[in-house]
Amino acid sequence: MPLVNEIDYGTPLRIAQESVTLEINGKQITVPAGTSIMRAAMSAGVQIPKLCASDNLEPFGSCRLCLVEIEGRPGTPASCTTPAGPGMKVQTQSPKLARMRRGMMELYISDHPLDCLTCAANGNCELQDMAGVVGLREVRYGMKGLNHFENAEKDESNPYFTFDPGKCILCSRCVRACEEVQGTFALTIDGRGFASKVSAGGEQFLDSECVSCGACVQACPTATLIEKTVIAKGQGEHSIVTTCAYCGVGCSFTAEMQGSDVVRMVPYKDGKANHGHSCVKGRFAWGYATHRDRSLKPMVRAKIDDPWRPVSWDEAIDYAASEFKRIQAKYGRDSVGGITSSRCTNEETFLVQKMVRSAFGNNNVDTCARVCHSPTGYGLKSTLGTSAGTQDFDSVEASDVIVVIGANPTDAHPVFASQMKRRLRQGARLIVVDPRRIDLVRSPHVMADYHLPLQPGTNVAMINALAHVVVTEGLVNEAFVKERCELAAFEQWRKFVAEERNAPEAVERVTGVPAEDVRGAARLYATGGNAAIYYGLGVTEHSQGSTMVMGMANLAMATGNYGRRGVGINPLRGQNNVQGSCDMGSFPHEFSGYRHVSDDAVREVFEEAWHVALRGEPGLRIPNMFDSAIDGTFRGLYVQGEDIVQSDPNTQHVAAALGAMECIVVQDLFLNETASFAHVFLPGSSFLEKDGTFTNAERRISRVRKAIPPMGGFADWEVTMKLSAALGYPMTYNHPSEIMDEIARLTPTFAGVSYEKIDELGGIQWPCNQKAPEGTPIMHIDQFVRGKGMFMITEFVPTDERSTDRFPLILTTGRILTQYNVGAQTSRTPNNIWHNEDVLDIHPFDAENRGIRDGELVSLASREGEITLPVHISERMQPGVVYTTFHHAMTGANVVTTEFSDWATDCPEYKVTAVQVRPAKHQSAWQEHYRETRRKTTQILGESSSAK
Ligand code: SF4
Ligand code: SF4
Ligand code: SF4
Ligand code: FES
Repeated sequence: MPLVNEIDYGTPLRIAQESVTLEINGKQITVPAGTSIMRAAMSAGVQIPKLCASDNLEPFGSCRLCLVEIEGRPGTPASCTTPAGPGMKVQTQSPKLARMRRGMMELYISDHPLDCLTCAANGNCELQDMAGVVGLREVRYGMKGLNHFENAEKDESNPYFTFDPGKCILCSRCVRACEEVQGTFALTIDGRGFASKVSAGGEQFLDSECVSCGACVQACPTATLIEKTVIAKGQGEHSIVTTCAYCGVGCSFTAEMQGSDVVRMVPYKDGKANHGHSCVKGRFAWGYATHRDRSLKPMVRAKIDDPWRPVSWDEAIDYAASEFKRIQAKYGRDSVGGITSSRCTNEETFLVQKMVRSAFGNNNVDTCARVCHSPTGYGLKSTLGTSAGTQDFDSVEASDVIVVIGANPTDAHPVFASQMKRRLRQGARLIVVDPRRIDLVRSPHVMADYHLPLQPGTNVAMINALAHVVVTEGLVNEAFVKERCELAAFEQWRKFVAEERNAPEAVERVTGVPAEDVRGAARLYATGGNAAIYYGLGVTEHSQGSTMVMGMANLAMATGNYGRRGVGINPLRGQNNVQGSCDMGSFPHEFSGYRHVSDDAVREVFEEAWHVALRGEPGLRIPNMFDSAIDGTFRGLYVQGEDIVQSDPNTQHVAAALGAMECIVVQDLFLNETASFAHVFLPGSSFLEKDGTFTNAERRISRVRKAIPPMGGFADWEVTMKLSAALGYPMTYNHPSEIMDEIARLTPTFAGVSYEKIDELGGIQWPCNQKAPEGTPIMHIDQFVRGKGMFMITEFVPTDERSTDRFPLILTTGRILTQYNVGAQTSRTPNNIWHNEDVLDIHPFDAENRGIRDGELVSLASREGEITLPVHISERMQPGVVYTTFHHAMTGANVVTTEFSDWATDCPEYKVTAVQVRPAKHQSAWQEHYRETRRKTTQILGESSSAK
C-alpha cells in the first residue's frame, strides 16, 4: 500500500455526554463538549495550519499558526486551545489571518537553515508543509544575524536518532511527548527567550534519563529529532501495517519501506494496543531481521560434531522426515515430539501442533509458555473458566487502584506501563508487590501507596494475608459473591483465609513485610473503587505459581472486581504470541480453545476435520521430554523458534537430554544454542517475512503482514507443511488466512474470526463468535465463563528451595527494557549499547559482608552450577536477595536455576534459587566450556560455509 498517512486532528479526542454544535466557515459541525475548534474543524475536513499541536498531546498554544476569528469575540484566538462553544461562528481563513500566519512563518524560517533539498525530512516535514500552506514567499528579515543554527552542535549519542538543535523551532512537542505519552520526563526547555533550547537534563541523550522510546522523534515536526535510518536511506515510499514481534503488548506499526528495505517503523496511531506509541525494541531494534548472522540455508549433519552440510530444502525435509520415521519405527510412536513457538504466528503454531498430533500420531507437543504462563492457564481456568486475562489495556483508564504483582511493566511491557503511568498521574492509587524496588515504586510523578517487598517464594502467603484482611474486616462484596460465585466454595475459602495463621501479623515472619502495610494495602484494594491486578512471571514462575494465580482470582472475586472497565485480573504476557500459542492447542493435553484431548466429542470434531485418528491421552510436557530423553525413550524433537538450551532451567540437564537424542530439527532465524545439538537446521522467517496473526496479552488478534519475501525461501508455516507432507500427512493451505479459517471452524472462541474481520476492525479480542461478533474486550460481564466463579483453597506451601548456610542468598531473575529474553534478536542490534552483559544486582549489606565492590566479577553458585558475572551494588534490592537477567548466552543464568517447578503445570521456579555470591577472578568452568563449544561451532560453521 502507499505510505500510510494518518490524519492528525491536532488535539486529543474528548469523550463527553453533551455535544456542541458550532459553525466553521459556514458549515454546521457537532462535536463532543470540550473538543477544540481545531479538532472540530478537522473532523469536518477543514485543516487549520498548525505546528505545536498534535492529537496525541494536550494543546499548548505556542506557535500561533492556528489562529482563527470568532464572530463577536475580540482578537484571533488559537484554535488548538479554544474549546468549541455552542453557536460559535468561526472563520479559519481571512486576509488578516493569512497575513498573521505568514508573519509567524517568516519568523520561524528566518531562524532555520534553508537546506530543505538536502534535509533528511524533505517531503515529510511539517515546517516545510506549513510554509507552503501559508504561502510564504519571502523572508523579509534576511538570514543574517543571531540565529540558532550556526554552530549548533548535533547530539548523535543515541544509536537510533539524532538531535540537531539547529533545526529546532521550540514547539515543545518532544518535551510534551516525553511527559504525556511516554511518562519519562527526560526533556525540558532550558533557558529563556532567544537562549531557550531543548535539553535532555543537560546531558547527551544517551547519558540522560531517556529510554529511547522515540515518542519525541515521532512528535518532532522538523528534522531536529530524526531516525538515523531515515538520514541514511531517505524517506519510505510505501508502508505496511504490521505487529511488533517482541512483547505481549502487541504494538502495531507501519513499516515504512523502500522496495524490500525497511526505512523505519512508525507506531500506528490506529493500533488498538498502543495508540501510536512504542518502546525502543519495536520502534528501533528490528535490524536483527536482516542481520548477517541469519542462517538462510537448510543444513543437515549425521552427528552433532560433524560440520553442517548445506543442502536443498527438499533434502533437508526428506532427511528430517526419514529420521523421525526411523526413530518411531525403532522406539515407538511416542518417541518423538515438537515444540511450538510463542514468537511465531498463530497459524504457524496451529500447524505444528496439528502436525505432531496427526503426522507423529501422538500428543507430544508443548510450547515455551510452559516456562512462563502455564500457571495462568491453570489458575484462571480453575477459578473463572477460561485461560486468559479479563480486560483490554484501555480498561486501566478506569482503574482507581492498580495492583502490580511480580511484574516490572516499565521494562517488560513498556507501552502498557506508559498507559498505566498516565492513569496514575491522573490520581489512581498504586500497590506494588515485588521483592525489588522496581521503577514503578517511585518514578517521575508516580509513587506507590504501598510497596510490599516480600521474600521471593512467599507470594501465596501474601495473597492469603491480603484476603484475610478483606474477610475479617468486613470488606467482602457480599452481593457480588452471592450472585456470581459458588457459595459453598466461597464459605470454605472464607473460613480458610480467616484462620489466624493467614493474618498479616502471622505472615510477616514469612514474607518479611510489615503487617500494617499489608493491612493498608488490602483495605485500599477492597475499598478504593475499581481495582485491577496486573501480574507477571514473578507470580507464575514459582513452585506455587498456579496457586498464586488462583489466590489473586479469589481476591478479585471476593471484592467484586470483575465484569466492567477498570477491574479484573490481567497477566502481562511475556512474548508477542504467548497467548496465541496457548490458544492454538500447543499444550499436550489441549486442542485449540483449551479443550481437553480426552473429551471424545471434541476429539471427534478434529478427527473428522483432519481425517485422522487422534490420541485421547495427554502427551509429554517439555520437562518430561527431557527426562524421557535421558531415560532413552524420547529420541526425536522438532523445535520451531525456541532456544530451549538457553531459556529452560538447569542448562546442564537440558544439554544432557538433547545430547541423548538422535534427531533434533531446529527451525530458527539463527544457529542458536539449541542448534548446537541439532541434526537438521531449517531457516526460519522473521515477522517481516510472512503473513499471519499474533494474539497479545489482552487476547487481541492482530495481523502480521509480509513486508519482504522470506529470506530463506519459505515462511515457517510453509516449512511445517513440507515436513508434514514428507511424514505422510499432507496439509494444503495457499495462504495463512486459510489456516485461520480452519482455526475458526474448529474453535468456538474463534468462530467469528477471519482476516477480513481483523482488517475491518483493526484487531479482535477473543471470544469472537455469534454471541460476540466483534470480539470481547472485557470478559465475565454478567457471569463467569464457567458459570459461577469458583473459590479455590490456596494453602501456602514453602518451596523446597531454601537458603542454607552454603547458599544463603535467594536469586531471582527478570528482564530489562533494552534486551529481550535470550537476546537472539536484541543482541544483534545497537541495543547492546545499553546492556551488553548480564549483571548481578546485590544489596550493599550483602556486598560489604562479602568484600565485593561495585563492578567486580563475582561467582554466582547454586547446587546446580556456577557462573561468573559483574556485580552491581543496588539499594533496589533487599538484603538476602540478588537479581540478574538472562539475556546473554555467555552468562548462562540458567546454569544455576533448578529443576523445581509449579506443582500443577511444571512451570520452572526461575524466581527462587538459593545461591552464594563470592568475589571471582576468572570465569566459571561452565563458561570456559561454553566458550570452547562456541569456538567449535564457529569453526564447524566456517568449514560448512567453505564446503558450500
Ligand atoms: S526517546 Fe522517549 S524517553 Fe527519550 S527523550 Fe524521547 S520521548 Fe523521552
Ligand atoms: S526538537 Fe522538534 S519537537 Fe522538540 S521543540 Fe524542537 S522542533 Fe519541536
Ligand atoms: S511494548 Fe512490546 S510490543 Fe510494543 S514496541 Fe515495545 S516490545 Fe514491541
Ligand atoms: S497549533 Fe495552535 S498554537 Fe500551535
